Amino acid sequence: MMMKKGNLLIKNAAELVTCSGFEAKKGKAMSDLHMIFDGAVVVEEGMIKAVGKTEEILGQYPEENYEVIDASGKAVLPGFVDSHTHFLFGGYRAEEFSWRLRGDSYMEIMERGGGILSSVKATKAATREELFTSAMKRLDSMLSFGVTTVEGKSGYGLDYATEIKQLEVMKEVNAAHPIDVVSTFLGAHAVPKEYKGKEDDLIDFFIEKVMPEVAERRLAEFCDIFCEKNVFSIEQSRRLLTKAKEMGFKIKLHADEIVSLGGAELAAELGAISADHLLQASDKGIEDMAKTGVIATLLPGTAFSLKEKFARGRYMIDQNCAVALATDLNPGSCFTESIPLIFALATLYMGITTEEAITALTINGAAAVDKADKVGSIDVGKQGDLILLEFPSYKYIPYHIGVSTVEKVIKDGIVVFHKI
Ligand code: NIG
Ligand code: FE
Repeated sequence: MMMKKGNLLIKNAAELVTCSGFEAKKGKAMSDLHMIFDGAVVVEEGMIKAVGKTEEILGQYPEENYEVIDASGKAVLPGFVDSHTHFLFGGYRAEEFSWRLRGDSYMEIMERGGGILSSVKATKAATREELFTSAMKRLDSMLSFGVTTVEGKSGYGLDYATEIKQLEVMKEVNAAHPIDVVSTFLGAHAVPKEYKGKEDDLIDFFIEKVMPEVAERRLAEFCDIFCEKNVFSIEQSRRLLTKAKEMGFKIKLHADEIVSLGGAELAAELGAISADHLLQASDKGIEDMAKTGVIATLLPGTAFSLKEKFARGRYMIDQNCAVALATDLNPGSCFTESIPLIFALATLYMGITTEEAITALTINGAAAVDKADKVGSIDVGKQGDLILLEFPSYKYIPYHIGVSTVEKVIKDGIVVFHKI
């Protein structure tokens, strides 16, 4: 959500990487970035008004009417969309990270009451102000990496009051920060001690007591679930998500992350917008997603941090899936908001090309939060959310390994970040 809207003209961009499109790109289409050399963009009242060659644009839109940025020697892209994060939480789990380095597994730590449950404890204890302040700081960092839209999940409450608190604070963050926040209800993120063995009761509780209020007050647009062995089963996920759809939520799943349970297949069956993680997705699940257009949201930072094998990104694109990439920023399995890290892992370790990775973080990320009509590309009618690189080509993004190449970030036509 943005307060001010700008009138801006960017000219002479060495490459205007438009990523043009209004829906997710599948398979081969992910390679086409729709570039304009020596490009220009006009933003009026925060919205993209014109896109083309600098000469044509300057002929029609007199410079004196706009704030002008000369992008000579620089590439201009749409702002990145980080479509899967858990950016709002209390406390940290640095100790747990060191246990993992010594060989404990993520699921073992969770099963003995740590992991997500330890963040739940800290999030319950945190005041709204603490949650707000730490979340704003994380979004500042994301903005510096060129992120202009972010998805954020609840799921560190697991009870009525804290789930609602998380979603309410996320709304406040959305209103206060230049980045647009898309909220997701993820009450079914873990099983608290008192519900061990009674997971069905917990699902009932969310369906009956929490989701109707979240839906009615529009505290979240999406509903998600951690569908995983020893967390929530396929059957429980189907039940919760089917109800979620009836209540008007769009749906997502944490699917086939640790064990191949059939989460990808379920996402296709239910018409989910995305299935996320997918480290262990089966061939059949991948085929189902490609056929039904479920976006495969891959989170290589998490596989890296958990020392697991990466999701089969190359294979998924070759099978004609629409792939999105996201950070999964969270206090446990992947504590990073680094877009350069995601580019490095996707390109160097998953066989994804630079062009595909850019599509995955722009228009496909936008589609994964159901905003492909508003953001994710430089097209007339979309929000003026843009980034300028320090370099003349998008090819420098993964090449400058692990370092941000973003010089300026523009949100709704206003420069909101400038690298010093
Ligand atoms: O996407 N897999 C489950 N949920 C998160 C991790 C949350 C946490 O560890 O705090 C994920 O990896
Ligand atoms: Fe996640």
